[in-house]
Amino acid sequence: MALLNLRFDGDPVLRGVAVPVASFDAGLTTLISDMFETMYAAPGRGLAAPQVGVSSRVFVTDVTWKDAKRTPIVFVNPEITARAEETSIGTEACLSIPERAFDVARPVWVAARWRDAQGAGHEARFEGPQAICFCHELDHLNGVLITDHGVER
Ligand code: NI
Repeated sequence: MALLNLRFDGDPVLRGVAVPVASFDAGLTTLISDMFETMYAAPGRGLAAPQVGVSSRVFVTDVTWKDAKRTPIVFVNPEITARAEETSIGTEACLSIPERAFDVARPVWVAARWRDAQGAGHEARFEGPQAICFCHELDHLNGVLITDHGVER
């Protein structure tokens, strides 16, 4: 396990469209465990691979650990398969944009499909903090930051 260096707004890696993962190998397993370590140390609730300089379609989340027990989830090659038409506005922060907060509109639920670190497929419907975090991190894989569509508080 190793702490990875965070990349900050202005770094071109945050603006690229990340590449799908093709091999579910030891390198991916190491990247994911290092991303979790880096996320918990930051401290944050989500971290996408471009935020540590890796342009791959991978992110990790744990939306409960600051308040309760850990619920870590690994998302590889994630996609939204359906989303609510209704949106709600919540306040978001980003490890790549320190000391700032933005109000961002997100769908109130999303249905998602993704793979885990071993390549197994998963599907779920997320709402609340997990939906917000999923959408925020998925944006990172497409080069989108909350500065683009949020309103600074
Ligand atoms: Ni972020």
